This record gives sequence, C-alpha cells and structure tokens, in this order.
Amino acid sequence: MAETGLFEVMYSAGAIRRLRPDPVPDEVITKVLDAAIRAPSGSNAQSWLFMVVKDAGKRKQLGAVYKKASEILMKLYAGAPRPEHMDEKKYARFMQSVQHLFDHMGDAPVLLVPCLKASMWSGNTNLPADIKARMAGSVRIAGSSIYPAVQNIILACRAFGLGTVLTTIHAFFEEEVRAILNLPPDVQTYALMPIGYPQGHHFPVKRKSVNEVACLDSYGKAWPG
Ligand SMILES: Cc1cc2nc3c(=O)[nH]c(=O)nc-3n(C[C@H](O)[C@H](O)[C@H](O)COP(=O)(O)O)c2cc1C
Repeated sequence: MAETGLFEVMYSAGAIRRLRPDPVPDEVITKVLDAAIRAPSGSNAQSWLFMVVKDAGKRKQLGAVYKKASEILMKLYAGAPRPEHMDEKKYARFMQSVQHLFDHMGDAPVLLVPCLKASMWSGNTNLPADIKARMAGSVRIAGSSIYPAVQNIILACRAFGLGTVLTTIHAFFEEEVRAILNLPPDVQTYALMPIGYPQGHHFPVKRKSVNEVACLDSYGKAWPG
C-alpha cells in the first residue's frame, strides 16, 4: 500500500470535500478499485459494480442531482440539533465544507458510484412467507456487502494521496442517477464518491473516545480502555 502504513492511513483518512480538478491517472483508479474488491461480501458473492465516471457531461449531471438532493438534506439538518461532540466553530467549519461539495461535486475529476447487483437469493420466489418476512425486516443490512469495499476505497485513496468522501444523498433521486449511468434494473447505487487530489492536506481524524462508544458485557458499562 504505497508507503504509508495502515494505521497512519486509517488515522488520517478524513472526509476531503475540496478537490483539485487535476486528472487522476487511470492506473491509480485501477489500484484503488483493486483494493476495494479485497473487501468481504456476503456469501463471497462479489455482486458489486463500480461505476467510474470521468465524462464531464455525466459528472455535471450527477453534480446537479447531488445539489438537488442537498436541498432535502439541508431541510433535515435545519430540524436537527448539532452533534454534542462538535462545538459551534467546528460545526460551522464542517457545514462550510459540506456546502462546498454541494456546489462542486461535478467538478471532481472522477466520480465513483459503488453499486450492488440484486442478491443471489432475489430470484427465488418460492420462499416460505416467514422467511420472506424476515428478509424484508433486514433492510438495514442492505449495504453490508458494499460498504466494506467503500471503506477500502477511502483508505486506498488516502494511501495514494487522493481525497474522497462517502456520500449517499444522491439516493433521494436514484432513478435519475440510474438513467445518467444507464444502469439496468437489477443494479442499485450505494454511494457517490468524488475522487481527486486534495486542495489542502489530509488531517488527523478526531473521534469520540473508545470508552464513550464501547461497553463491556452489558449496556451502560463502559469499556474501561
Ligand atoms: C452514510 C454516510 C453518508 C454521508 N453523506 C455525506 C454527504 O451527503 N455529504 C458529505 O459531504 N459528507 C457525507 N458523509 C461524510 C461524513 O460527513 C463524514 O464521514 C463525517 O463528517 C466524518 O468526517 P471526518 O472523517 O472528516 O471526521 C457521509 C458519511 C456517511 C458514513
């Protein structure tokens, strides 16, 4: 993985939303995707598909969809409290960065759209009703066979000096995205990731501490580490 160690990469692979327009060599994108497909997937089905969008016209169209989706997101943000772990200054900086991407998604030299094809079980219409009901109840794990690959993409981008960020709000307009990319009905999109060289620098990733987010044996008993 280039020359950057795994932990150095993980601790500095924060969201990068301000990107230079300079092209990213195809060989580097291939290496990023080759890292992506080392990820696990349910039943090792590897039903992923990575749409690499370089065409300026298509990037502009996707950028316009993202901008439109951002108007919905801003309505959601307007009614939501600021996360406790972010002070006002930090939150304002975060929102400025988010806003920048709303206006510039289509300017990134590469837009990556990780997708999943229909699951290997979806063609089985003979399943008993109770199994069908359980499967319908597990929608929250729908992306579990693509997001590990997405995280590998984030880490590989960082290792190659590229910036990126996972975004998902394009899904508010999934049908428009599918039309832009000519996706067949059995392929669904799971993320829209701008990729390019950062305008600034990578920075240390700050998070709540482990003992705030982990428990030992029982809810409420903080992990002592
Ligand atoms: C499910 C998900 C959806 C996200 N959607 C967006 C998005 O629409 N726009 C955006 O700018 N960032 C988006 N992000 C990026 C988060 O804002 C970012 O990961 C978080 O603020 C932590 O940033 P940091 O790693 O730089 O600290 C998303 C992240 C996740 C995991």
